[in-house]
Amino acid sequence: MLFSPTGYTECLREWEDLEKNYQQIQDTHRLYKQKLEEVTKLQDNCSGAIARQRKKLKELTASLEGCKENHSTAKLNPEDVDAIAEMESSIKDRTDAFSEMESFLPKKNGLYLNLVLGNVNVTLLNKQSKFAYKDEYEKFKLVFTVILFVFSFTCRVLFSDRTLDALFNFLLVWYYCTLTIRESVLISNGSRIKGWWVFHHYVSTFQSGVMLTWPDGALYQMFRNQFLTYCLYQSFVQFLQYYYQSGCLYRLRALGEKHNMDITVEGFQSWMWRGLTFLLPFLFFCHFWQLYNSITLFQMFQLPECKEWQVVMCSCSYMVLFMGNVFTTLEVVYQKYMNNQDKSKNL
Ligand code: COA
Repeated sequence: MLFSPTGYTECLREWEDLEKNYQQIQDTHRLYKQKLEEVTKLQDNCSGAIARQRKKLKELTASLEGCKENHSTAKLNPEDVDAIAEMESSIKDRTDAFSEMESFLPKKNGLYLNLVLGNVNVTLLNKQSKFAYKDEYEKFKLVFTVILFVFSFTCRVLFSDRTLDALFNFLLVWYYCTLTIRESVLISNGSRIKGWWVFHHYVSTFQSGVMLTWPDGALYQMFRNQFLTYCLYQSFVQFLQYYYQSGCLYRLRALGEKHNMDITVEGFQSWMWRGLTFLLPFLFFCHFWQLYNSITLFQMFQLPECKEWQVVMCSCSYMVLFMGNVFTTLEVVYQKYMNNQDKSKNL
C-alpha cells in the first residue's frame, strides 16, 4: 500500500523526497535527449555512408560489366575473370547486407504510406518490436478471419438481407485497406512480403468496394450464394495460412534467424515443407474458385438482362487475382525448392 503523509512534518519530508526524485528524473531525461541526438547523428551518418557505398558499388558494377564485354580487347587472363566473378558475388552480398542494415534505420515513406499517414517515421528500431509488430499483424488477420467467417455464415445461412451484405462488404473494404497499410509498414521494416500479396489486397479492396455498390436485383441474387460460400471457404483457408505462417514466425524466432530463405536448420525445413504441402491443395482450390467466380460473372455479363457494370468489373478482378495468385504461389514454392536444393548441396 502507498504511504500517504498525515501531519505537516511528514508532508514536508515527502515534498523534499519528491524534489530530489524530480531532479533525478530531469537528469535522466536530459541524458535520454542527449543520447537521442547522438542516435539521430549516428543514423544520419550510417544512412549517408550506405547511400554513398551503394552509388559507388553501382558504378563499379557497371565498370566490371564493361570489362567483361571488352574481355578480348582488355586481354583478361582467367584469374582476372575469376576475380571479377568473385567481386560481383561480394557486391550482391553487400547489397543484401545494406538492405538488412537499412531496415533498422529511419527512411522516407513510400508514396502510399505518405498519402495515408503523412511523413511519419514507421521504422521500428529493434528486433523485438519488429517481431511484436509482425506477430500482431498475424493475430489481427486471425481475429478478422474469424469475424468474417461468422459474418459470411450469417449472411449465407441465416439472413438474406442486402443491408447486411453491404455491411459485410464494407467490413471487407476496411479490412483489406488496413492490411495494405500494415503490410507497407512491415515492408519498411525489412519484411520480404512479395509485392504481389500487397497488390492482391489492393485488388481485393477494389473488388469489395464494387460488390458494395452492386444494387440488389436478379443478377446480384444469382451470384450472392456463390460469393458468400467462397468467402466462407476463403476464411477457412486463411485460418490454415495463419497456422502455417505464425508457425514459421515462431520457429524462426526460436532459431534466432530472420528470414526462412537463410535457414539451413533441417528441423525447420522439414516442418515448413510439411506445412506447405498440406496448405497448397487448399490454396490452389481457393485460386481455382476465383477462376470459377470470374467465369460465372463473365457468363452473367453476357446475359441480355445484365445492366450492372459491377458484373464485368468483379469478373476481371477475380481473373487478375486468380492469375497473380497461381503465378506467385508457384514462384514462391519454386524458390523455396531451389533454395533447399542449394542448401543440401552445400551441406
Ligand atoms: N500475405 C502477407 N504476407 C505474406 C504472404 C501473404 N499472402 N505470403 C508470404 N508473406 C510474408 C511472410 O510472412 C514472410 O514475411 P517476413 O519476411 O516478414 O517473415 C515473407 O512474406 C516471405 O514469405 P515466403 O517465405 O515467401 O512465403 P511463406 O512460406 O511465408 O508463405 C505461401 C508461402 C504460399 C503459403 C503464402 O505466400 C500464401 O499463403 N500465399 C497465398 C495467399 C493467397 O492466395 N490468399 C488468398 C486466398 S486464401
